[in-house]
Amino acid sequence: MLSATASDPPPGSARLPAQAAARAPIRTLGPDDRPAILQHLLALGERDRYLRFGFAAQDEHIRRYVEGLRFGLDEVFGIFNRRLQLIAMAHLAYMVRPGQGSDAAEFGVSVSAHARGRGYGQRLFARALLHARNHGVRWLYIHALSENAPMLHIARKAGALVVQQAGESECHLELPPADFDSQWSELLQEELARVDYRFKALRAWGWRWGRRLLGWLGARLGR
Ligand SMILES: CC(C)(COP(=O)(O)OP(=O)(O)OC[C@H]1O[C@@H](n2cnc3c(N)ncnc32)[C@H](O)[C@@H]1OP(=O)(O)O)[C@@H](O)C(=O)NCCC(=O)NCCS
Repeated sequence: MLSATASDPPPGSARLPAQAAARAPIRTLGPDDRPAILQHLLALGERDRYLRFGFAAQDEHIRRYVEGLRFGLDEVFGIFNRRLQLIAMAHLAYMVRPGQGSDAAEFGVSVSAHARGRGYGQRLFARALLHARNHGVRWLYIHALSENAPMLHIARKAGALVVQQAGESECHLELPPADFDSQWSELLQEELARVDYRFKALRAWGWRWGRRLLGWLGARLGR
């Protein structure tokens, strides 16, 4: 267990990561990414779906969830591999409270089974936290099942207070206000992720055409 030091923030306040997402750039997703999101979520096994959504989500639930994503209102972040497959994603949903606007948001995340343990879950959390902070969110919530040890570990590590009740855990985190560093850091991360994605797309396109060209040449020479 970590022991508190004088410089630790109070319980429930965000511990800001020193340097988040230097590797594995995280891109903000949009409506064009719905097919990749659907593919990623449908590939989750039964137990992962249960942990992610809090119930045994069937394909139809997942389809409806993806169709209902409110791009432009909420934020969805993703990590792509070299083949442009979405291997991790997070959803930051703003919680609008009557008369109070939205100073709170809820975080949900999933990482493809083969890509776990590489820090993607934590990076997505740090990315969502940064965005939330820069957009005036004061409270970040995560609802997880109490058996979800990795998720609770990630939340606690970031400084969240965890309240457990009847097999479920509510984690909440008070975010500091935005500052120049947080704004600049988000801008930089977003730009890096965009460049990285374009580069991967270009490389994938090059491979595709390279293979076609080789096939065509092979056929011509074989005649
Ligand atoms: C939860 C989830 C997103 C974590 O993704 P991930 O990329 O593997 O997470 P990371 O690699 O960033 O970090 C996992 C952390 O949990 C720790 N961990 C893993 N298994 C653990 C366990 N059984 N008990 C305690 N901690 C555990 C790891 O050691 C690591 O912490 P560390 O870096 O301090 O060592 C992933 O397991 C997942 O997609 N699960 C299914 C969906 C889900 O549960 N979503 C969360 C509900 S919203």
